[in-house]
Amino acid sequence: MATVLAFDVYGTLIDTHGVVTELEERLGKGGRAELAAEFSRRWRDKQLEYSFRRGLMGAYVPFDQCTRESLDFTDRALQTQLSDVDKDHLMAVYARLPAFPEAAAALQRLAATGMRCVAFSNGTHDAVSGLLGQAGLLARFESVISVDEVKRFKPDPAVYAHLRHRLDVAPGDTWLISSNPFDVIGARHAGLHAAWVRRSLDAPFDPWGVEPDLTVTDLDALAERLG
Ligand code: 2OP
Repeated sequence: MATVLAFDVYGTLIDTHGVVTELEERLGKGGRAELAAEFSRRWRDKQLEYSFRRGLMGAYVPFDQCTRESLDFTDRALQTQLSDVDKDHLMAVYARLPAFPEAAAALQRLAATGMRCVAFSNGTHDAVSGLLGQAGLLARFESVISVDEVKRFKPDPAVYAHLRHRLDVAPGDTWLISSNPFDVIGARHAGLHAAWVRRSLDAPFDPWGVEPDLTVTDLDALAERLG
């Protein structure tokens, strides 16, 4: 049976902090441009927190709503007073975030080995397809699998089980590829293999006694190890 590589999207294939330049411009109108990097980080952290909380509450909404509500929260928390027009613009930018520079070539190399590559995300099918399409990556994937199909968020075990059922693949033949430690631990907990893409040497891994099967610095290094 062919091995499946299931790629997380936000933070692994797509750079969520690709919005910083636009944030500098929008925040700069209020003289707060220096907050752009912090705003981006807090926005992303709160987006994930909202998905975890909604998962615990059984109150699923499409991930885009977590993104918008966390944008509103971050604006409140940092008192940056973005207008609705600014926020709509930032959401539009979020829908066309850039891919990490090595992603396309690394995916091509991995697909050439005969391994099945799929995108696997908290994002909805439409949001992820649009994002990967504009970044030139969509054609590299056999399919896009969204948690929206089961209305749960990562790292609920149901989403990793859904991934396997959709692809009719055994846990031992399935690899989750992610830069997000919570996703790596979720996949390992569900019996999958997992590779952690540690894009920054400063990035810590959760001390839960659950380790990735493989740690790489980027997708080139992953292709080197698995290709
Ligand atoms: C994704 O599912 C967790 O944001 C991450 O794409």
